[in-house]
Amino acid sequence: MIKIIASKTAEEAGIAAAEVIADIVKAKPNAVLGLATGSSPIGMYKELIARYEKGELSFKNVKTVNLDEYVGLSADHDQSYAYFMSTNLFDYIDIDKSNTNLPNGLAKDPAAEAARYDGVIASMGGVDIQVLGIGNNGHIGFNEPSDHFTYGTNLVDLTDSTIDANSRFFASRDLVPTQALTMGIGQIMAADKILLIALGKGKAEILEKSLFGPVTPNVPASVLRFFKGEVIVCADDEALSVIREKHPDAV
Ligand code: F6R
Repeated sequence: MIKIIASKTAEEAGIAAAEVIADIVKAKPNAVLGLATGSSPIGMYKELIARYEKGELSFKNVKTVNLDEYVGLSADHDQSYAYFMSTNLFDYIDIDKSNTNLPNGLAKDPAAEAARYDGVIASMGGVDIQVLGIGNNGHIGFNEPSDHFTYGTNLVDLTDSTIDANSRFFASRDLVPTQALTMGIGQIMAADKILLIALGKGKAEILEKSLFGPVTPNVPASVLRFFKGEVIVCADDEALSVIREKHPDAV
């Protein structure tokens, strides 16, 4: 079941998304959170930090598994996803960093690292909620459009469109890593709940395609329509614009 929470602005969507996570952490202090990086969840992380600072929330017993990491970047490289998680969330809350997990981008043998990460995810005994952004091409995690759905952690070649999109964070396009390790679609679909955050008009077309078009590995996010539980979509007005135009009754 897909539930769309519509917000006027990106800021409001971030607060709505934080509310979803906060409810889970309050109900289950040792929850396992599947986390994402990128611009979409930043507002949510800010709001979670604010609630922690007000004493409303504790992450002391929370465990996390992140979706993905660039191959070739160390955890202290300022564009690595490990660094992103520290500087956008972990450094500001009471989480035990030994309970936080990401693929190791510097692993010499990416296939062995993928297998290790599969073991980490399995050892969690289930992810209570998986946070996702959505790529302009419909990717979730770094599972790029393809002719098949992946199951486990896998090494991917990033598409030109993803490298273009992510080059905004690097000094130049050729510094953007070309490969990543990502949790597979099957692992994402194994979570108990999914929270997809989509912000801005750049996501409007692909969000409509994913939620209303055919389910196909060519649009990886479309697989969420087959999710067994609840998919909560927190989106702002701009990201919902094409859905509103084509499916006026949907939101
Ligand atoms: C990030 C991730 C990616 C992003 C997606 C959207 O961990 O797995 O799928 O969620 O590329 O990125 P933003 O939010 O920057 O538009």
